[in-house]
Amino acid sequence: MINLCDNCANLNKDNNWIQFFMDILDLKDPYTQGHSHHVHAITEKIYDCLPHRYQTKIDKTKLLLAALLHDIGKIKTPDRILDKNAALSDNEWDVMKQHPNEGAEIIRKTVFSDTADWILYHHERIDGKGYYRLKGNEIPLESRIIAVADTFSALRTYRIYRPAKSIEATITILNDVRGKQLDDDIVGYFLLLGKDVLENLYCNCKICAERRAELEKVS
Ligand SMILES: [Fe+2]
Ligand SMILES: [Fe+2]
Repeated sequence: MINLCDNCANLNKDNNWIQFFMDILDLKDPYTQGHSHHVHAITEKIYDCLPHRYQTKIDKTKLLLAALLHDIGKIKTPDRILDKNAALSDNEWDVMKQHPNEGAEIIRKTVFSDTADWILYHHERIDGKGYYRLKGNEIPLESRIIAVADTFSALRTYRIYRPAKSIEATITILNDVRGKQLDDDIVGYFLLLGKDVLENLYCNCKICAERRAELEKVS
């Protein structure tokens, strides 16, 4: 059984469905299950460093739930696409791009249906070149926060076919894409945490934990 944070465990206590979805995701795709917890932890860090004028617009409890479940739609993505260790074809990308909608449809049937659109729009880009072509503030604030956490997690995570980016390279990339792919302000507040704090926002999935242990042995 996958451990939930206090926030999500509290939301889960009435009917257990959050635990159920995370356990299904772990069976289907342990990498995405680990990534979901990583995005959840980063999202909390981002929320905590945002100024009051942002925080007052956000329900933190629901934001963290949406962060945890942002990729839940991947339980419907075929394994041959999810597990492919090579570039996806155009057709395969079209299938992969269904996961925000699949996830939103799952969450729309729960008591947290008001978070469904945050999940639907987590791959939008500020410049309007995302999956649904929403631009800037048309994208829900919660989706913009999750998108920053999602990108940071993807860059800092080891995959079987490629290493994680260094924290220096990650910061450079985030600065390059702010205002184009990611919300300029949210990236700015997140980076104010500083290199040392950002470096310690580890992914604890099995692949990342093993790789880190190997690297520590070598150094
Ligand atoms: Fe996603
Ligand atoms: Fe993700």
